[in-house]
Amino acid sequence: MSMFGWFRKKQRPQLPFSTDVHCHLTPGIDDGSQSVEKSVRLLQHMQQWGLTRIIPTPHVTEDTFENTPAIIDPAYGSLVAGARDAGVEVELLEPSAEYRLDNFFMQCLEQGLVRPLPGNYLLVENGFNQEPWDLDEVLFELNVKGYKPVLAHPERYVYYHDDLDRYSRLHGSGVLFQCNLMSLGGYYGKEIKKVAEWMLENDMIDFLGTDLHGMRHVESIERYMSTSHFAHVSEVLKPRLLNDKI
Ligand SMILES: [Fe+2]
Repeated sequence: MSMFGWFRKKQRPQLPFSTDVHCHLTPGIDDGSQSVEKSVRLLQHMQQWGLTRIIPTPHVTEDTFENTPAIIDPAYGSLVAGARDAGVEVELLEPSAEYRLDNFFMQCLEQGLVRPLPGNYLLVENGFNQEPWDLDEVLFELNVKGYKPVLAHPERYVYYHDDLDRYSRLHGSGVLFQCNLMSLGGYYGKEIKKVAEWMLENDMIDFLGTDLHGMRHVESIERYMSTSHFAHVSEVLKPRLLNDKI
């Protein structure tokens, strides 16, 4: 080794995946980044974490964020232009969305306004207070239509925490799970971290996502990435994750 090797800066910890399937970077259309400049700053951090492909997934929820392609596409266009102007070298794939399973979603589905992730994976979320009353039916319908439902951050639905078997049944029926990196890092609290670890042990984590909304999340992720817990989790998950297979 040359003597300069000794002085090489210690390598920054990297994420165990290079494709992010869940983030809120399309500026100004949900509760994520509110400007192109802020999105570019987030992208610069994501690039340092080893991400090379990013799929923007703005919220689509009844009443609050009734985003359709007509709203998402211009925001995506401004994001792509901003990233190019700033020299950010990540690939911004065509946007998909994080679809709340509600009436608005069913309308979008009927009208052909739903756009999946590559490979027909579809990022869907429950409400945070209760499971959608017709969840099993909707998931079945999505399967019939050829989509592969991916449940966003299942560990954050605290109403499942007393019934872990529900997770096993959902996952066993073919629903894929996308856990949030920050859940494993403890950002949402101890209970959610514990359930995410339980999913990890039971081989239920199919995708990891950043669910990045803003700088508060960047700080939390970067803090977590410097821990031995993160190093361990990364090692276990790296060969299992589907992120880079889509
Ligand atoms: Fe999200």
